[in-house]
Amino acid sequence: MSFEQSKWVWRNGEIIRWEDATTHVSAHALHYGSGVFEGMRCYATGDGPAIFRLDAHIDRFYASAGVYGLEIPYSRFELIDAIEEVIRRNEFASCYVRPLCYFGSSSLAVHPAKCPVEVVILAWPWAPYLGAVGLEKGVRVTVSPWKKFHSEMMPTTAKACGQYLNSILAVRDAVQRGYDEALLLNQEGHLAEGSGENLFIVRNGEVVTNDERDSILMGITRDAVMRIAQDLGHRVVTRAMTLEDLLGADEAFFTGTAAEVTPIREVDGLLISGGNRGHITENIQRVFFSAVAGRELRYKDWLHVVAQPLELSHR
Ligand SMILES: Cc1ncc(COP(=O)(O)O)c(C=O)c1O
Repeated sequence: MSFEQSKWVWRNGEIIRWEDATTHVSAHALHYGSGVFEGMRCYATGDGPAIFRLDAHIDRFYASAGVYGLEIPYSRFELIDAIEEVIRRNEFASCYVRPLCYFGSSSLAVHPAKCPVEVVILAWPWAPYLGAVGLEKGVRVTVSPWKKFHSEMMPTTAKACGQYLNSILAVRDAVQRGYDEALLLNQEGHLAEGSGENLFIVRNGEVVTNDERDSILMGITRDAVMRIAQDLGHRVVTRAMTLEDLLGADEAFFTGTAAEVTPIREVDGLLISGGNRGHITENIQRVFFSAVAGRELRYKDWLHVVAQPLELSHR
């Protein structure tokens, strides 16, 4: 994590200094988690910094906000401009980008009726979330004693701040017990997802993952990886997965903006894929990292190149 390198933040329509981007302690979101956010990565490519799946992230940002009655007072073009501006002003060649929309300060009634809607965009360089070694060798996960909340309790397809308390409980427990990440089961006892990643297993050449019926966030990386796996010639199956499926899998991996494509090499002491990164996982990773670097023609439309000052003057 390197916040130190981030000098500029976008807040409610203007670029301000990182140290000035503060909020009042009476903000509704601070008390009740009443905000929504996105996480996207901007990668260095031959055409300059490019944001991976920007459109999909913006769509999900509006959709999450809609669920909680947060009316984002900016058009998608204004948001895209703002995101580009944050990356440019910070002079990042690659970074993680975090738009956040939340109820600000006015009242602390649970109903946020009169609270202003605040929008901020941060960016900072962020190394592989589960470690560079994790990307290559795989991570050790544990099944969490905490269940993933059911989609009838809160919409798991929305990326909302307060919803992450469930993930925080799970990942703190996992790390305290010496694991890299937690895997949450859902109310039905099926596998749901990691604290911040979707789950895939590979069995007999088939690539399997679950969907919103299992109370997961519908990951944008998940979607890209399903397409890559298909294009690599694998049958991609969407269905509920059990712990037995995982333990008997040939390979398993996580996907997520932060975690990218991270192999799972162990679940509670039981080795997956002999405790190594599986071959199919490695192939998917290879294509994924090539795509985000702009080296795969067929996935070029997944990248939004950040406009540079010269191009802007010609707009
Ligand atoms: C709970 C959860 N599941 C899955 C994901 C993966 O989603 P995406 O690939 O859109 O980043 C994330 C990360 O955003 C997450 O927080």
